[in-house]
Amino acid sequence: MNQSVLFVCLGNICRSPLAEAALRRECAHSDFNVVIDSAGTGDWHVGQPPDERAQAAASRNGVEIGHLRARQVTGADFHDFDHIIALDSQNLRDLEAMRPAKGVAQLSLLLDHVEGRAGQDVADPYYGGDEDFDQTWAEVTAAAKTLSSRLAAG
Ligand code: 4NP
Repeated sequence: MNQSVLFVCLGNICRSPLAEAALRRECAHSDFNVVIDSAGTGDWHVGQPPDERAQAAASRNGVEIGHLRARQVTGADFHDFDHIIALDSQNLRDLEAMRPAKGVAQLSLLLDHVEGRAGQDVADPYYGGDEDFDQTWAEVTAAAKTLSSRLAAG
C-alpha cells in the first residue's frame, strides 16, 4: 500500500521543500512506495521555485530541488495524505485550524520525529544566512531518517 507524507511550512520555498527532498533521498533505495510532497500555509510564493539559498543548501548535499514549485495547502490534502508534518508550531496550529472534520491525515511536528527534539520548531531560515539553511538541512535530514524507517515498518 502506498503511504503519503506532506510537509508544510509557511512559504513552501525554504524549509518544506528541503524536508521533501531529504525524505525522498532517504526513501530512494527502499522497496516500499511513498508519495512525498510539500506545501505552504501562505500563498505569497505559489508557483515559485525554492529560495536560491535553499537550492544551494540542497546542492551542497548532493540534491537538486530547483524543479519544485510552491503551492498552498488545501482541504483536500487532509484526505489525500496519511501524514501532514508541520515544520513549526505556528504551521501546526494553522493546519489544525483548517483541518476538515473528516480529514484522515495525522498531523505532527517535524522535530517530534527526532529524538530529544519533540515539541521544537525548525527555525525559519528566510531572514538568515547559508549556515541557517545548513542547519535546516541537518534537522530535516535527521527527521527523514526516522520517518523512512517508520514508513518501512508500515
Ligand atoms: P519557509 O520560509 O516557510 O520555510 O518557506 C519562508 C518563506 C517566505 C516567507 C516566510 C518564510 N515570507 O514571509 O515570504
